[in-house]
Amino acid sequence: VSLQPWNSFGIAARAQTVVRVHGVADVQAMLADPELAAAPKFVLGGGSNVILTGDVKPVVLKMEIKGLRLLEETPRAWIVQAGAGETWHGCVTWTLAQGFAGLENLALIPGTVGAAPVQNLGAYGVELQERFESLDAVDLATGRTFTLDAAQCGFGYRDSVFRHAAPPNARTTGGLPRGMGLAGRAAITHVRLRLPRPWKPELGYLDLERRRAETGVEHPGAQQIFDWVCAIRRAKLPDPAVLGNAGSFFKNPTVSPDQCADIIARDPGIVHYPMPDGNVKLAAGWLIDACGWRGKSIGKAGVYEKQALVLVNRGRCGDSVTGGEVMTLAKAIQSSVYERFGIRLEPEPVVV
Ligand code: EPU
Repeated sequence: VSLQPWNSFGIAARAQTVVRVHGVADVQAMLADPELAAAPKFVLGGGSNVILTGDVKPVVLKMEIKGLRLLEETPRAWIVQAGAGETWHGCVTWTLAQGFAGLENLALIPGTVGAAPVQNLGAYGVELQERFESLDAVDLATGRTFTLDAAQCGFGYRDSVFRHAAPPNARTTGGLPRGMGLAGRAAITHVRLRLPRPWKPELGYLDLERRRAETGVEHPGAQQIFDWVCAIRRAKLPDPAVLGNAGSFFKNPTVSPDQCADIIARDPGIVHYPMPDGNVKLAAGWLIDACGWRGKSIGKAGVYEKQALVLVNRGRCGDSVTGGEVMTLAKAIQSSVYERFGIRLEPEPVVV
């Protein structure tokens, strides 16, 4: 089975077996087959945050569970439940159309609802964990379902338990130890989002402040913020349907205040944000740009002209970039940034 239509980078990798999951019963049916039950598993959502470096040997579970509904409405929050296979942006637009504000800063992020907790997605000053209530998942060893709250998901910056390998012989049922890895061990089936009331706009991110100043809109509503976020993203991020990509290719690195001061002494223009713990987060896009990579290519793997943190597929249909080419470019960028700044950039998408 070709995975090319199912990964936003458009890499032409293949899988031996793909199981399309429309409900927990599909997972349980798969487990009834002894050969499939014993095989390693890889859970695929929208494929917008994966780099396939070769053919995928594990059984691919393509999550297609649908459904969007309001579960609960209290004076303090709306609780919304979404199927893992809904698109994330579809979920954001649906909540806004229903009058449940709170996800507007997270508009236009590619991928599915089920992938959102995996990477604790975030943009324009909001992270998923701030709007998260709980999730349902199915244990891929036993077919049993279980529920995790935010603490059990172990959220970090673009991180969760779903990005870490399970220790051997780990059990997911009967009391789940905190911080345990669940990659390949569990598939998320439903996500519940908590949208706090009364709604408060989140306008701290520089790009949004700038929009407010430019337009003179003093008190933007949720729909206005949604429109701004969509416009900002369309202006600097490539549409994966047009130009293959997986969003930011590296995480923004964190350095100590001393290390940051050293870099500022040499490069006063560096974009940096102080963090609550005293460390400083640096804009990886700026570091890559400063090394001269913006707009450059190696083979068919390129660095996007308008945002150096995004790597793109410059191949054509039938002659697509390979995962190997993407990783060659990524390694070259990592070496430049390390040589110039002494910082090791870490990939943000899941490299398979
Ligand atoms: N910059 C440059 N040159 C570049 C790119 C960026 O100088 O080529 C500078 C920009 O001028 C800006 C700063 O770097 O001052 C930060 O850039 P931007 O606002 O575009 O955000 P980012 O830190 O590069 C992060 C997330 C994005 C998210 C945006 C908005 C990560 C790894 N990336 O990008 O998330 O949309 O903030 O909140 O945290 C993703 O995870 O796939 C993703 C797209």
